[in-house]
Amino acid sequence: MIRPIVLYGHPVLRKKAQPVDDFEEGKQLIADMFETMHNARGIGLAAPQINILKQIFVVDTVQLAEGYDDDEMPLGTPIKKAFINPQIIEHSGNPIVYEEGCLSIPDVRANVERPFKVLIKYQDEEGQWHEEEYDGLTARVIMHEYDHLQGKLFIDYLSPLKKQMLSSKLKNIQRGKVKPFYPVILPNR
Ligand code: NI
Repeated sequence: MIRPIVLYGHPVLRKKAQPVDDFEEGKQLIADMFETMHNARGIGLAAPQINILKQIFVVDTVQLAEGYDDDEMPLGTPIKKAFINPQIIEHSGNPIVYEEGCLSIPDVRANVERPFKVLIKYQDEEGQWHEEEYDGLTARVIMHEYDHLQGKLFIDYLSPLKKQMLSSKLKNIQRGKVKPFYPVILPNR
C-alpha cells in the first residue's frame, strides 16, 4: 500500500523514532515503505517520513546499478534492504561533498559533506542482527536515512548562507504550497 509522505514543516520529522519490537507488524510496514519509496522514485525512505515513529528505514540502490556512471561518487555495493533498530558504529574515509535531496523536501537539492564509509549494526525483518560496512552512494543514503530516525534532515548541514538561499522554497513547502506527483501529508495538517 502506498502511504502519503510527510512534507517538511510537519513536526514528526523532528522527533526521535522508537525501537521496533513487533517484527510481524514491521513486515507489512516495510513492504509499504518500499512501495511508497518506489512510487515516489526515491532511493531511501525512513518510517517517520510516513508518519510512523519507528526505527526503520529502507534503501534501494540496486535500481541505480545498471549503467551507473558518476565519477564523483561511486555507487558502492548496491543494496535493496530494510534496516531495523540501526546503530551507526563508525564513520570513516575522507569526507565527500555531494548533492542530496529528500522526498519530504521536494525540489530542494544541496551539497552535503559526509564521510565516505559507514559501519552499521541493524536487525533484519526476522530480527537477526547484522554488522556491515558500506561506502559510496549506498553509504550516503544509509547516513541520510539514519538521520531521519534522529529527527535530523540534510538541510541541517547547510551553511546559514545556503539555507538563506533556499528559504523561500522551504517556506513554500512549510505553507503547503508544494504538491509533488506522489501522495503527501501537508505540514500544516
Ligand atoms: Ni530524506
